[in-house]
Amino acid sequence: DDEKAGYKASIAAALKAHDAVLVAHYYTDPLLQELAEETGGCVSDSLEMARFGKNHPASTLVVAGVRFMGETAKILSPEKRVLMPTLEATCSLDIGCPADEFAAFCDQHPDRTVVVYANTSAAVKARADWVVTSSCALPIVESLMDKGEKILWAPDKHLGDYIQRQTGADMLLWDGACIVHEEFKAQALIDLKAVYPEAAVLVHPESPAAVVELADVVGSTSQLIRATQELPNPTFIVATDKGIFYKMQQAAPGRRLIDAPTAGDGATCRSCANCPWMAMNTLPRMLQSLEQGTNEILVPEDLIPQAVRPLQRMLDFTA
Ligand code: 13P
Ligand code: SF4
Repeated sequence: DDEKAGYKASIAAALKAHDAVLVAHYYTDPLLQELAEETGGCVSDSLEMARFGKNHPASTLVVAGVRFMGETAKILSPEKRVLMPTLEATCSLDIGCPADEFAAFCDQHPDRTVVVYANTSAAVKARADWVVTSSCALPIVESLMDKGEKILWAPDKHLGDYIQRQTGADMLLWDGACIVHEEFKAQALIDLKAVYPEAAVLVHPESPAAVVELADVVGSTSQLIRATQELPNPTFIVATDKGIFYKMQQAAPGRRLIDAPTAGDGATCRSCANCPWMAMNTLPRMLQSLEQGTNEILVPEDLIPQAVRPLQRMLDFTA
């Protein structure tokens, strides 16, 4: 409608005026994803958001996503200004892995290579040997295993468990979870598959093992979108945040996309496959941040040299 179009035009103008580029995650409001596409920014998974932000010449990065994505952008480009529509958008994985408890856990296992998921604070990254995202965790763990390394993994236990089962690596897992993916229900998914036998099931590996087992494809957001282009199925049942449907429908026009069930027996769901923190990214908040320079992401300077090392390793590995 007119109000939204007005906001989009104002943000596009403010991006230009402030030499800024918009970097959005697939789980954000489709309006923000559209705006990123229309203004020369990027819409992508967390790995490619990091790479795009680092390589783009703009002096200000506006990150639409959750806080760890803004922090990653800042760590990789400390000379750039990084703004977010809100500083309150956190992540249950980040919350569930406080830096002091994590450091104590690492201290207890000095023989293990520390691999952390990107969904963590700068202080946790600073303690890691490697940072990974869901699109590169498997090959990175495989390569470490080939070198005989034992791994300490944090924070997502479902992703860690999936990688452990795929690779057979020796992995000690932190006990964290994503509140969105944790709600997908295996039995309800089995019932839904029976209704749509022509469907392929696409699952993000932050989901519980019983759900992952039912998948035709397990992968990061970008890998799941790619799967809709590669598979011939007319229908896809998708177990990840609903925000992904915007790009997935673009990638697979004419195919039917169905959300995987989040709660059996008609029970109410907590997140209903929509991350409450991603949803805090709104057009008015983005405009305000850009116009007033508020919500700037700052990472303590002493953390940056340590945190950038495992992030840069990830970018080099996947280059
Ligand atoms: P990817 O986009 O890297 O698959 O990340 C998923 C995620 O949960 C981000 O919040
Ligand atoms: Fe964190 Fe899950 Fe939200 Fe991603 S979807 S930001 S992993 S809570």
